[in-house]
Amino acid sequence: MAIFVNESQRLFHLQTAASSYIFQILADGSAGQLYYGPRLPQQTSYPNLTIREERDATSALSEEMPDFQRELLKQEYSGPGRGDYRPRAFQLTYPNGSTTSEFEYQGYQITPGKDRLTDLPASFGDPATATTLTVTFKDRGHDLFLTLTYAVFPTSNVITRSTRLSNQGPTVTIDQVASAQLDLPDADYDLLSFPGSWARERHLNRHAIQPGTQTVASSRMASSHQENPFVILARPQTDNHQGAAIGCNLIYSGSFATSITVDQFATSRLLTGINPADFRWQLRSGTSFQTPEAVFTYTSDGLNALSQQLTDFYRDHLTNQHFARAPRPVLINNWEATLMNFTEQELMPLVKQAAQVGIELFVLDDGWFGHRNDDRSSLGDWFTNQPKFLNGIGGFAHRVHQAGLQFGLWLEPEMISLDSDLYQHHPDWLVQTPGRQLTTARHQYVLDLTQPAVGDYLFETISAIIQDTHLDYLKWDMNRNLTAPYSPTLPADRQGEFAHRYLLGVYRLYDRLTKAFPDLLIESCASGGGRFDLGMLYYAPQAWCSDDTDAIERLRIQDGSSYGYPLSSWGAHVSAVPNDQVGRLTPLATRAAVAYFGDFGYELDLNQLPASELAAIQDQVKFYKQYRQLFQQGRFYRLDRPQPDPNVYAWEVVNADRTQAIAARFQILNEPNPPYLRIYLTGLDPERYYQVNDDPTTYSGAELIHAGYAVPRIMDRTAQPKPLSDFHANLFVITAID
Ligand code: GLA
Repeated sequence: MAIFVNESQRLFHLQTAASSYIFQILADGSAGQLYYGPRLPQQTSYPNLTIREERDATSALSEEMPDFQRELLKQEYSGPGRGDYRPRAFQLTYPNGSTTSEFEYQGYQITPGKDRLTDLPASFGDPATATTLTVTFKDRGHDLFLTLTYAVFPTSNVITRSTRLSNQGPTVTIDQVASAQLDLPDADYDLLSFPGSWARERHLNRHAIQPGTQTVASSRMASSHQENPFVILARPQTDNHQGAAIGCNLIYSGSFATSITVDQFATSRLLTGINPADFRWQLRSGTSFQTPEAVFTYTSDGLNALSQQLTDFYRDHLTNQHFARAPRPVLINNWEATLMNFTEQELMPLVKQAAQVGIELFVLDDGWFGHRNDDRSSLGDWFTNQPKFLNGIGGFAHRVHQAGLQFGLWLEPEMISLDSDLYQHHPDWLVQTPGRQLTTARHQYVLDLTQPAVGDYLFETISAIIQDTHLDYLKWDMNRNLTAPYSPTLPADRQGEFAHRYLLGVYRLYDRLTKAFPDLLIESCASGGGRFDLGMLYYAPQAWCSDDTDAIERLRIQDGSSYGYPLSSWGAHVSAVPNDQVGRLTPLATRAAVAYFGDFGYELDLNQLPASELAAIQDQVKFYKQYRQLFQQGRFYRLDRPQPDPNVYAWEVVNADRTQAIAARFQILNEPNPPYLRIYLTGLDPERYYQVNDDPTTYSGAELIHAGYAVPRIMDRTAQPKPLSDFHANLFVITAID
């Protein structure tokens, strides 16, 4: 049993293996937050958590209850107009123009398992792994209901939350509706967030939270390169290996806002949900509005543990189960090799060479359709670029399959070019606001996915390509953000719904395609990592997490991504040097060692490489295939003991029974005459003995953890003494001996 309810106290205790979440219905019928932290024993009441002191200069519930001052209370879900002046979780506008709501507790329901949501990506769980609590509140004097849903996943140490508003009365406007609010009793936290930009996504940012509100948000109608919906609140002493932290992520791919407010009494309020800046919803009689779901996890054991709890949870309760544990193919993508300049004739040698080195999937990127030879045309015309493929894209796919490779294609379903047949036929499908200028980005425009006809067109044309090519893999790109949101099919008072409805259209298309083609592996992409979030992960088990393929840039990108997302959720490719994005020259071995920590692949012209590099690539592919399960499904650790060093990244993956691990140590710049170096491993069985690489000595797990393993000198004196270069990687394959 994961949820305990004390009916007389109206007290709810949600328990996971290691955490407790407790709230209680207060005197005014609203819900007060009592506790989120390490697991507490089951008690009938928690008087110590409910102490209140009356303070001056704040409003109280009534003359009779002067100590019931809302701005002093931790609350579960608070709105405006009732004396809680902190940022609000929701705001409704009533027919008379007022915005004060009075939601009062009505009752609760506990159901085994966790159901998916109907129109939105969401977590799921069977009765053995999850229990759902819904608590319903009624707005006094209105036929309007608020439901807070909590799903408890005890072994995952995860609690999810979402909110639903249902209206039986006259239309109200939802101005704002958060997925969840979490009030914490103090402000002694660091906020970890993952800001970035195109080609440098999700760089870890950590700072102490400050009085006032700090917000992590996107108003790009995509979760964005610039911010990511994942945040961590960690105690200042918490590091990767120890300490308390709360993780929060939102299963949503559009404009979001997550804010942390430190108030006058140094309590903290976290709010997460759809960004109110891009949202207004008419809640008509007989309708409901369901928010996206937020995921919370708590740990006392450091940030590696936090990441592991979340990534295990996503594997078991969020990701498409068809692919969650399936080995992901080693791929080659032609983009950085050819851009759009190719013909079938020119591609075939690359296909054949890829097969020869053991690559499993050939992905044909942008430029295969319509009359597209640069980025000014053809988006929306999802049929063969005939001069490039004389036997059609189906014919080319057939040849790739015959060469022994799976076949993948790039598409950008949500987009339209002015120079396209689609625009000729359906100019009204392009998103624009009447009378306003069209804003362009990469010479392309967005399709109005709020219109069912647009979704139908895309479903049919994309289905036809999938069938024609027996497609194994689809790279679903999205290369620009929406501007001037407006749909001719929505009435004036519903235009504020456009952004969310657009995303619902995207999700519906994903849903239809994944159901119609369950074996099709989808990799999401948005100019690299511009929509790298849990909403996408629900449908697309992997994502192109950055257009930056430089190994050194990727260290920071993949390290940042690893706090909230599993290694199997991102593509990581070896590309040519000098690197396209930064011009850097890194050794081939380092490029591969970084890319092993992800869904491995290549993005270069194999036929331009010397035989020695081709042979090395063949070995890399073999190595990755041998340890693929470990890299994609293993337990991942960021290693930075005894203290973090900005010149070094070190990562480790360990299998479930701790018999096999691989660690890597990446040194960005070389150092002359360096001190002795050690890598402190973790996650091993201290009682077992291991061998490292081809070193014949055996080491106890305890020694490798506590004393570390000596990293070979940066100067290689084995043959001709020569200094190793900058950007050096050491790989350690650690195998338990029986
Ligand atoms: C985006 C993607 C790239 C590539 C190009 C093709 O930038 O992130 O990987 O597919 O589009 O135009």
